[in-house]
Amino acid sequence: MAFYNKPFSFFLSNLILSCFASVCLISSSEKTKNSGVTIDLIHRDSPLSPFYDSSITQFEQLRNSFRRSLLRQSFLKTVHSRSTLESPEAPLTPIVGEYLMKINIGTPPVEVVAVADTGSDLTWTQCTPCPECYKQKAPLFEPRKSKTYTNISCSSQQCQDLDYVYTDCDDKNVCVYDTTYGDSSTSRKDLALETFTFDENVTFPNVVFGCGHDNYGTFKETASGIIGLGGGRVSIVKQLEKSIGGRFSYCLTTLDSNASSKISFGPNAIVKGPKVLSTPLVKKSLDTFYYLTLEAISIGNKRLEHNLFSKAPVQEGNIIIDSGTTLTLLPQSFYNKLESTLVKAINATPMSNPQGTSKLCYKLPTNGKFNSPPIIAHFKGTDLVLPQENTFVEVEKGVVCLTLVPSDNISIFGNLHQVNYLIGYDLENGKLNFLPTDCSKPK
Ligand SMILES: *[C@@H]1O[C@H](CO)[C@@H](O)[C@H](O)[C@H]1NC(C)=O
Ligand SMILES: *[C@@H]1O[C@H](CO)[C@@H](O)[C@H](O)[C@H]1NC(C)=O
Ligand SMILES: *[C@@H]1O[C@H](CO)[C@@H](O)[C@H](O)[C@H]1NC(C)=O
Ligand SMILES: *[C@@H]1O[C@H](CO)[C@@H](O)[C@H](O)[C@H]1NC(C)=O
Repeated sequence: MAFYNKPFSFFLSNLILSCFASVCLISSSEKTKNSGVTIDLIHRDSPLSPFYDSSITQFEQLRNSFRRSLLRQSFLKTVHSRSTLESPEAPLTPIVGEYLMKINIGTPPVEVVAVADTGSDLTWTQCTPCPECYKQKAPLFEPRKSKTYTNISCSSQQCQDLDYVYTDCDDKNVCVYDTTYGDSSTSRKDLALETFTFDENVTFPNVVFGCGHDNYGTFKETASGIIGLGGGRVSIVKQLEKSIGGRFSYCLTTLDSNASSKISFGPNAIVKGPKVLSTPLVKKSLDTFYYLTLEAISIGNKRLEHNLFSKAPVQEGNIIIDSGTTLTLLPQSFYNKLESTLVKAINATPMSNPQGTSKLCYKLPTNGKFNSPPIIAHFKGTDLVLPQENTFVEVEKGVVCLTLVPSDNISIFGNLHQVNYLIGYDLENGKLNFLPTDCSKPK
């Protein structure tokens, strides 16, 4: 189902079909070339990222990402609870995530490096003229220089469809969006349509986005905006639903890998085969987040139920899968059980935590090999072995800490535990598919 009745183009490896009217005719031989699109997902701390700071050690990078995890979860929680209260206040959007994507906007195309965010819907970039912009390294997007830029009027459906984003109308009847992030950073101004180009040649006309002429707060100097990959109506994934079949996938590499993580849309994002592990995506009132159902976690062969004190089935959709949160956050009581089970199973020297975020730390043995029992997440319908090298990580020379932490707020399945799985979001069938994959190897 298309929320915006607009033309779309198909993916073709060597040829672009521009489609006029709402239908593209395409012959079956051409269709076989239709493979979708795959681009790099750049970790914000990788040397390829504009955020990269060579003066920061890997340990510091990791600890910073842990801190961002906690900030992000407290804001995800705010959004989550506000949406259920249906508060009339302008909603908050979580602070930005951990991965960046390069796309091109406009005609002629201009490169934009923006945060890929599975926790928000609206895509926006900084635009000229900009009375209030934060500094960015790349030039600002100039709507006046693009042939395909169109403002969206207040009466249009697209202006009404901005769930969880506050909208207003300016004196020229242009729809104005106003999105406030968890830390009160703000981006606002004109809601518009533009042509988006992925990987040089894959073009999507008339994508709704925010042209931010008024942006301030703690956005870093170097990313030009946000690409909304949430499940809500205005997210890129939903807007391009017809062309990409409601599918995107990503494959995250380990932090020390020199290979880039990847994100795919459309046919490239189909995750299938006998080894695929599949769990339902649960729909909730807030459709921005991707909810899964976590039934239990096993430590070695000891299974711990999520519902500790009741035999009732777990609440469906009790955990959010998010690429923009590094740690996995679990309810305090469940975490406590998990921690005490781990403590019994691990034979190593406990250490007090040097940085405060993780609760369980050990001295790294001199041979550099820390042994912990395998941790398995039992999602509804499938069991996922958490990447062992990422359940305890070295946060300081010689100290490893557990990357699952307690949260009073909201449960999140973080990106460290998604590494080396090809993860396919299939919105059409309401499924999340995991395929164990060495994400550093080209497909
Ligand atoms: C879009 O709207 C803004 C604000 O009303 C206006 O300044 C700008 O000229 C408009 N751009 C186009 C291309 O119509
Ligand atoms: C885009 O198309 C041009 C011309 O066909 C081709 O040379 C180039 O390699 C393509 N780029 C990508 C990333 O496929
Ligand atoms: C990544 O590259 C660096 C420098 O070229 C090298 O020292 C390191 O071993 C590489 N890491 C991996 C995991 O291949
Ligand atoms: C929950 O969120 C609040 C802010 O909303 C924060 O102060 C608190 O530390 C969070 N609790 C945990 C366990 O992270």
